[in-house]
Amino acid sequence: MDIVLLGAPGAGKGTQAELLAEWLSLPTVSSGVLFREAIEAGTPLGVRAKEYIDRGELVPDQVTVDMIAERLARPDCANGVILDGFPRTVAQAEALEGLLARMGRRLAVVAYLKVSPEVLVQRLSGRWTCANCGAVYHEVLHPEATKGVCDNCGSPLTQREDDTPEVQRRRIQVYTESTAPVIAYYRDKGLLSEVDGDQSVDAVQRDLRSVITAVQSQGGAG
Ligand code: AP5
Repeated sequence: MDIVLLGAPGAGKGTQAELLAEWLSLPTVSSGVLFREAIEAGTPLGVRAKEYIDRGELVPDQVTVDMIAERLARPDCANGVILDGFPRTVAQAEALEGLLARMGRRLAVVAYLKVSPEVLVQRLSGRWTCANCGAVYHEVLHPEATKGVCDNCGSPLTQREDDTPEVQRRRIQVYTESTAPVIAYYRDKGLLSEVDGDQSVDAVQRDLRSVITAVQSQGGAG
């Protein structure tokens, strides 16, 4: 089963993707995480991506699609994936359709986490992430048990370099310009399910699972 999570920066895509991955025993493929790993490793891809990420701009489509194609070809993706942060433009959505078709697959669910603008700002400003396992916390809304320490693996938590107020604003603006049309693209294809992302983490997860269960029961698992 191949699933896409769509939503603005801070909508909760990463948080929900990790919970779905555990429930469905599928890997998450997050373009943001892949770029940050490449930056950390200092690869040519990382050097290129950093120029864009630091400004809150999108990394060019072809660079991003090539990275995702390489990731989807790995054996752990054979039974499906949960995509977080990809696709983010209509060109990427079209490329994904082609990539999956070549593997004899098609998207089963595109879930759009709809979150109001004031909630996005609040969520982004208090986010802390585990650099080791990628778990995401919020200092007020979804705190870790021991301050500064990951509940899952005990590693220290850090804040993302692109979470400054200025870059956050630009990311939300870029989302409106480039990613909102992806929602219309999937709605036109009859693939889009909208979930109220303003709710608690547990309530959003419950609604996502209902959407996926409904698709599974209709035999629409790609
Ligand atoms: P990326 O890493 O994908 O960032 P993003 O889309 O801006 O999304 P975020 O990771 O900020 O938010 P999220 O929706 O995952 O929310 P989270 O779960 O963390 O991309 C970063 C950059 O990489 C882009 O700007 C671009 O440059 C580049 N890039 C990536 N993909 C690309 C692509 N396809 N094409 C081109 N360029 C690309 O939650 C946020 C906070 O809220 C957390 O603190 C969390 O604990 C809290 N929270 C979450 N849900 C809830 C809830 N229900 N209730 C209360 N708190 C909650």
